[in-house]
Amino acid sequence: MKVLVIGSGGREHAIVRALADDPAVTDLFCAPGNGGTDDVATCLPVVATDPDQVAALATSLGVDLVVIGPEAPLVAGVADAVRSAGIACFGPSAKAAVLEGSKAFAKEVMAAAGVPTARSAVCTTAAEAATALDDFGAPYVVKDDGLAAGKGVVVTSDRDEALAHAAACERVVIEEYLDGPEVSLFVLTDGDSALALSPAQDFKRINDGDEGPNTGGMGAYSPAPVVTPEIHAKAMRQIILPTLQGMMKEGLPFTGFLYAGLMIDAQGQPKTLEFNCRLGDPETQPILMRLRSDLFDLLWAATDGPQALVAYEPSWDRRTALGVVAAAHGYPLSPRKGDEISGLPADHEDCMVFHAGTTDQQG
Ligand code: AMP
Ligand code: GLY
Repeated sequence: MKVLVIGSGGREHAIVRALADDPAVTDLFCAPGNGGTDDVATCLPVVATDPDQVAALATSLGVDLVVIGPEAPLVAGVADAVRSAGIACFGPSAKAAVLEGSKAFAKEVMAAAGVPTARSAVCTTAAEAATALDDFGAPYVVKDDGLAAGKGVVVTSDRDEALAHAAACERVVIEEYLDGPEVSLFVLTDGDSALALSPAQDFKRINDGDEGPNTGGMGAYSPAPVVTPEIHAKAMRQIILPTLQGMMKEGLPFTGFLYAGLMIDAQGQPKTLEFNCRLGDPETQPILMRLRSDLFDLLWAATDGPQALVAYEPSWDRRTALGVVAAAHGYPLSPRKGDEISGLPADHEDCMVFHAGTTDQQG
């Protein structure tokens, strides 16, 4: 089988590496890829958010399956364009990706399906924002409604900072602060049935002692012992499955990876912080290090239509996998580009280096 992976991050590197190990995959492409993916896949340039370009590339390569890693191409409709070109694609339609693309929409789906989440208000004016902040009290949680590459959420006890973030966004969701350990739960879904991946925990604040700003995640590990089998079952029953059914009811069946960011409260009740339409980065790297089943089979089965996944049960390495992000100077506010990376450990079975946004120049 010929597979094309779209993206250039650490998550895509991990997906490409897992597919490269899969005997069913004969030809592997990654576009645009990075300085690490080109060790295991043929990398080709593409504007990943351009649906026509990606569909044309997939057609010219004659691939059997396209796997889309990041949210921006999904929200832009790349999966729709690939499927319209008659090629199987793993990833939700643009309409279903709105579950990540609009936090207000996600809140509506959760309310309709009775999914546990923080109480919230959608605000477009300063007066609405001020009222909502005072209703919920400190710490304040203010979320840009749209995609913001990990920078859209401000959690602060400073009311002025919360108001300023609301003023800087067109539309925000302001919500009640939830306390507890945070976990990332991923499922593969064909829109109807869902197969859970082993859960992970990521850690978002940069700098020692969690003193820096939020990032997309500075490291992650899997499994996440805080997700007991009971909590896992609750999350599937109360959050994942009702959300998938809710999307079906809206006429927007969700296929691909669904990612629920959950807060586990003191009573062991998981509550939804957000949904994403993709795998997490950096959670994917440790999760896929532990996957013993063939990734291609799982992705392929999920493109096969409703209930296709019911027959699958992925197997996992029981050992813990841990990933740490080494970021560019100045990350996340103003990362410095072009620095040489040296001193990386060699890849082997127990230790892998995943690249994000790197290029290989003269080795
Ligand atoms: P989100 O993109 O919605 O997951 O928000 C980014 C991060 O902000 C989350 O991973 C949490 O660490 C934090 N966060 C989001 N919503 C809440 C909330 N209601 N209570 C506390 N922390 C939150
Ligand atoms: N690690 C969080 C995310 O991928 O959104």
